[in-house]
Amino acid sequence: MAKLFINNSCKKGTIAPEIYGHFSEHLGRCIYEGLYVGEQSDIPNTNGMRNDVVEALKEMKIPVLRWPGGCFADEYHWMDGIGPKEQRKKMINTHWGGVVEDNSFGTHEYFELCRQLGCKTYVNANVGSGTVREMSEWVEYMTFNGVSPMAELRKRNGHEEPWKLDYIGVGNENWGCGGNMRPQFYADEYRRYQTYVRNYSGNAPITKICCGANVDDYRWTRKVLETCFEGTPAFLHGHMDGLSLHYYTLPETEDDWNVKGSATNFTEEIFYQTLKRGVFMEELIRRHGGIMDEFDPEKKIGMMVDEWGIWTDVEPGTNPGFLYQQNTMRDALVAGNTLNIFNNHCDRVKMANIAQLINVLQSVMLTEGEKMIKTPTYYVFKMYSVHQGAQLLSADLTEQGKAGSGKNELDKVIASVSEGDDGTINITLTNNSLEAAETVEVKLAEDADAYGVSKASVLTGSMNAHNTFAQPDAVKEEPFKDHKKTEGGFIFTLPACSVVCVRIKKA
Ligand code: AHR
Repeated sequence: MAKLFINNSCKKGTIAPEIYGHFSEHLGRCIYEGLYVGEQSDIPNTNGMRNDVVEALKEMKIPVLRWPGGCFADEYHWMDGIGPKEQRKKMINTHWGGVVEDNSFGTHEYFELCRQLGCKTYVNANVGSGTVREMSEWVEYMTFNGVSPMAELRKRNGHEEPWKLDYIGVGNENWGCGGNMRPQFYADEYRRYQTYVRNYSGNAPITKICCGANVDDYRWTRKVLETCFEGTPAFLHGHMDGLSLHYYTLPETEDDWNVKGSATNFTEEIFYQTLKRGVFMEELIRRHGGIMDEFDPEKKIGMMVDEWGIWTDVEPGTNPGFLYQQNTMRDALVAGNTLNIFNNHCDRVKMANIAQLINVLQSVMLTEGEKMIKTPTYYVFKMYSVHQGAQLLSADLTEQGKAGSGKNELDKVIASVSEGDDGTINITLTNNSLEAAETVEVKLAEDADAYGVSKASVLTGSMNAHNTFAQPDAVKEEPFKDHKKTEGGFIFTLPACSVVCVRIKKA
């Protein structure tokens, strides 16, 4: 039996809502069809944005949306996506699928989408093939309220008021598709570019994110930080607010990107291997975080894990450049484990953006024409949304046993616990075992007997259970009933292969 001891008088810091963030790129059917169908579409929409998708994302409490890429960002020239739509440039999306990009979704449409979603904005600027001027003019276009050429242009294009830009990424994967730069070179570029991200009055501050490492490239992290801070320890203050990290979980091979494995058809061994690779995130946060601590012991710079999730082979018969994949209970467990890890490291992790929002990689929704389904990952984000902005509580999990075996062995149960403003305690747990239910004895340090369960839900199914357009509700959030009150706490019995959220409150 696993034991979870919650010290409810020990708060360890705020869980940034943005840990539950998302990412949308001009890739496959993420933007076009997934989010944006245009005002003339038969699919119900508001100013071109799909109503069904917007509604579901609001219900899931999407806190922030990164756009326009990814690799696409370092080839994106924002001026192509403003002004009358019929005059916008048409071009081939050379990165993703070789399809025509008509730029009908641009800056105005992005901010309109975020307005409808009620979420924060995160724009990724082009460093790889852009210029400092292009980036600084984009910031001016988006955020300046005074007299200036870019503010005038925005007004002429129909938007009088500036928008609120919350985050800017200064390049994306500049060690790869964003220019194949060396860390020292990129860091110098970062120093220069970020200088021209102006905080215009009334619209400040913009959180500036420096391009961090790919997976376990600790050398990149060290060299970038060394170069950025060289001679200017004060760099920390206002010059770098975040450092990104990208980590994708590949189910089958680690190095051959042509054989990642099917999204739905996999063995138990591959299931455990995927989960084990997913929890590698913990080590990445600790080790990259350790290097960040050397430069920034007060943890003022956030680690922004702005691309993460499972990356499998595409669904058979679909465009390989569209990265369209199904989503199963395996995805739900990777999401549940990873979000627990992020919560538990909320002192350093300040934002994370699963890749990608819809129809691409580990999505929360899939569409087919006018039909839309929610994936198991959607329900995990919805269930865990109670952690957004809550206080992480000290929680010790012991005797949780192991799931899988050999090199694929991982903790059977992974959990995190938070307390919301109204005193409700939120406990999220995964049972990573396919074999057996797991009983968890929960003890509270204080006032245990005053608490009762206020809401409890579970997501469970076979390892490859998933929703389809024919069976949209095969996997969905259900009430969780296997809990009982004990002296000093509770007992939960987590079904095999499940994600559970229990909320307890004083009567
Ligand atoms: O999410 C798909 C791609 O993965 C992104 O464009 C890129 O940043 C990463 O390599």
